Amino acid sequence: MDRVTQLLSQMTLHQKIGQLVQYNANLFIRTSADITGPQAQLGLSNEDLAVSSSVLNFSCAKEVIAIQDAHLRDDPLKIPMVFMMDVIHGYRTIYPIPLGLACSFDPQLAEDCSVMAAKEASADGVQVTFTPMVDYVRDARWGRVMETAGEEPIVTSAMAKAQIKGFQGENMADPERLATCVKHYAGYGGAEAGRDYNLVELSMRELREYYLPAYKACIDAGAPLLMPSFNSLNGVPSVANSLLMKQILKDEWNFDGVVISDYNAIGELLSHGIAADAKEAAKLAFENGCDIEMCSSTYFHHIPQLLEEGAITMEQLDAAVARVLRLKEKLGLFEDPYHGADPEKAEKLFLCPEHRQVVRRAAAESAVLLKNEQVLPFPKDTKTVAVIGPFATEHGIKGFWSCQGRDEDTTTVAQGVENLLGADRVLTARGCGCLWDDTDISGIQEAVELAKKADRVILCLGEPQNYSGEGNCRTDLKLPGVQELLAQQVIAANANTVAVVFGGRPLDLSGLDAVAPAILYMWFPGTEGGNAAADLIFGLRNPCGKLTMSFPRSVGQCPIYYNHPNTGRPHWTAEYKHRGYASDYIDCATLPLYSFGHGLSYTTFEYSDLSVSSQELAENGTIQVRVQVKNTGDRAGKEVVQLYSRDPVASVVRPVQQLVDFRKISLEPGESQWVEFTVTEQMLRFWNMQDQHMTEPGEIRFMVGYADHFLLTQSINRI
Ligand code: NOJ
Repeated sequence: MDRVTQLLSQMTLHQKIGQLVQYNANLFIRTSADITGPQAQLGLSNEDLAVSSSVLNFSCAKEVIAIQDAHLRDDPLKIPMVFMMDVIHGYRTIYPIPLGLACSFDPQLAEDCSVMAAKEASADGVQVTFTPMVDYVRDARWGRVMETAGEEPIVTSAMAKAQIKGFQGENMADPERLATCVKHYAGYGGAEAGRDYNLVELSMRELREYYLPAYKACIDAGAPLLMPSFNSLNGVPSVANSLLMKQILKDEWNFDGVVISDYNAIGELLSHGIAADAKEAAKLAFENGCDIEMCSSTYFHHIPQLLEEGAITMEQLDAAVARVLRLKEKLGLFEDPYHGADPEKAEKLFLCPEHRQVVRRAAAESAVLLKNEQVLPFPKDTKTVAVIGPFATEHGIKGFWSCQGRDEDTTTVAQGVENLLGADRVLTARGCGCLWDDTDISGIQEAVELAKKADRVILCLGEPQNYSGEGNCRTDLKLPGVQELLAQQVIAANANTVAVVFGGRPLDLSGLDAVAPAILYMWFPGTEGGNAAADLIFGLRNPCGKLTMSFPRSVGQCPIYYNHPNTGRPHWTAEYKHRGYASDYIDCATLPLYSFGHGLSYTTFEYSDLSVSSQELAENGTIQVRVQVKNTGDRAGKEVVQLYSRDPVASVVRPVQQLVDFRKISLEPGESQWVEFTVTEQMLRFWNMQDQHMTEPGEIRFMVGYADHFLLTQSINRI
């Protein structure tokens, strides 16, 4: 008999339910025997906690070991607890927010970052991370866009697979690795009006084509856990949504890992008005395949009765418990219940030079040079540099989900520049604040005076790091407060200015774009953000990030995305040009300010000789698409070669452009390289009105270059 079957045969019902719940650590570290606080609110007894077998968002090697020891001492079956945490963009050494990291278009970099985070987190007692988050997004108002890879499923899938590989390695029992949990299944990023937790209404075609592929890619890449999302999808919250949870996840995708609810998502079925009481909520979630209930207590209170009533069966319960036990087996917890937790090792790893190096590179490669009218790079012998703005000396640039990262460990832009030039050449002024209701303009004059005195100006603007992330949505995407005014006046005082912008989402930079000769978008870059900014500004590194989410000209354009379908009256403009009775606005252009795929470099690239290996592509066939890329500038640089397609006539309206594949290459000055893409017919498929995934005979166009701005085009025939 294998271990799991053996254990199941010995477990009481109460012990089985204990495997299916997850609570915060404060319930387990209690100093008195009285039941108070969250435990009392959840109606949990000490006996319930004694069998509860997984801990949410808690780490610290010493205490994890102590909790595990106490648990194993009291558990007659010696089933270890499992510790899960949101290790999203680093553990203690923090790399850029996922939306930033995606702009590196570099899955290997995402893997390197994940390997590093796994080492730190596992040494400090974490065994499972709630990552990758692969929600597809098109609306910058939603605060959680910062956790995503943006508006392209191919990029999202590639980055997520790299994260899974980095966190899990070959074997998640390895004490330096973690298990991953793909989330939030499904459609959470489609929240109506960009408001968190809001309903999502999607056609089946839209869901399958844009939203589902990345979750599927993660399951195929071996993610052993999945978290359903908070939102209702087409009327039913995910955790109770049988189409998502049974039909697609289990029947179509054969997912046999652990499903864990999001925080109190089962309890929230009552607020949604889908369950009349907690018992019904437990039934709905359980019968739809939710194995672990996070931070509500409907399973403890109602599974016994549901079993008695025959609403659920003991076989179903055993199957759920077995999935959890198997995860613990895969993690090697029965052999090493601490999974490598080691306080001394953790201390050595945190912020060590190698880890700082990884995140510095990641921060630099995630940054996107949005605009540069011959301002950057600044010469290293610049005599005086004024670092101005609310983010000039701001340590809070590590981002919302930065786990055990600390602001005080983070280098500011001013420090980064000082590290490079020496403190005596750097002047700083705050100028103004960055909160949405900051109206104080009294610091602007001092900033202007400083700008006049300096040879060059680095103007550090943005939104605070807690303006994005879970629950932090905005209806106004402009730079908060009076920052645009600061920008106008500082740039008027000194034209040698670069605006360095920090944000957890694409902000509306129209006002800044109108005055700034150069804009470098840093996202929230993490621990080494200030050093990375200085590296880029002074040309020690060449910017190479490309946007994975379009920047709107105004919040009124949201949702806006590059892979938009055509209309019967298309009128795609980059400048304000109202035509009348066309699909446009009377007061704004239709294209984004900066589109998906946009990002400048200090060098230039020339594309030539786009060719296809055949003019025809059959069903299940393959074709090679080649293009030559040359570095025509005088600096080494990295380019993201982007291959797009368009199906101009089909039975359903197709996007005007659709990324097929990408490749990031490095070129020395004058160097050229052939880039070859293998395109399969499957890669070009779409969902038709009959819910079939297919291509149709007819023309298919390939384009290389950048969205809304293609350099070369070639057509083939799908026969
Ligand atoms: C709620 C969030 O939606 C989810 O992303 C996270 O993993 C859980 N809380 C646990 O912290």
